Amino acid sequence: MKSLLLTSLMALTAIAAPLTCAAQTQDMKDNETLEVLKTRRSIRRYTTQMPSRELLDKVLEAGTYAPTGMGKQSPIIVAVTDKATRDKLSALNAAVMGAKNDPFYGAPVVLVVLADRNIGTYVYDGSLVMGNLMNAAHAVGLGSCWIHRAREVFDSPEGKALLKEWGIEGDYEGIGNCIIGYPDQSPTPKPRKADYIRYVE
Ligand SMILES: Cc1cc2nc3c(=O)[nH]c(=O)nc-3n(C[C@H](O)[C@H](O)[C@H](O)COP(=O)(O)O)c2cc1C
Repeated sequence: MKSLLLTSLMALTAIAAPLTCAAQTQDMKDNETLEVLKTRRSIRRYTTQMPSRELLDKVLEAGTYAPTGMGKQSPIIVAVTDKATRDKLSALNAAVMGAKNDPFYGAPVVLVVLADRNIGTYVYDGSLVMGNLMNAAHAVGLGSCWIHRAREVFDSPEGKALLKEWGIEGDYEGIGNCIIGYPDQSPTPKPRKADYIRYVE
């Protein structure tokens, strides 16, 4: 009887050990995710190195898994790696500000997020896609920054012509440009404001 109990205990331990291990692995994964969320920063200086298609695909895929209102997936992402198009987007963006400098800070890639105006939650949906893209970029060792004025650019005749050229039909609004490249700086974050979080207990 005693040996039967011992055998059962050993068997249980053998089953429990991998479970504990799996739980620990899950914990570690969670922490890695939190670390990525905390350490991502807006990058405003890039090397000239073009990220591989494989790496960009990972970032883009993460973008497509952002939550969207009623799961309607109102956004689309246009991945621009072509230098001439990237430069054109940069010039159009600068023109909105009446500036001439490169608002994309030399980043070689621009992921343009647009969203369908006919879906009530489109701005929120597109913003969450932007968040996923930026965090995913950081997770795979790339730098990123949200560059604004996508709405103005894609509402302009030049922007509309680009959408047509890209075969995009429909009522799409520019939500943001997620610039991507290899970081050439590592900025430190501003301290979080003291009253950022308020508990209601
Ligand atoms: C809606 C939005 C628009 C932004 N537009 C720009 C922009 O046009 N140019 C820029 O350099 N940074 C832009 N940023 C980046 C912010 O300046 C940056 O997130 C902020 O300073 C906090 O820094 P962190 O991202 O490193 O935490 C934008 C961010 C958001 C969320």
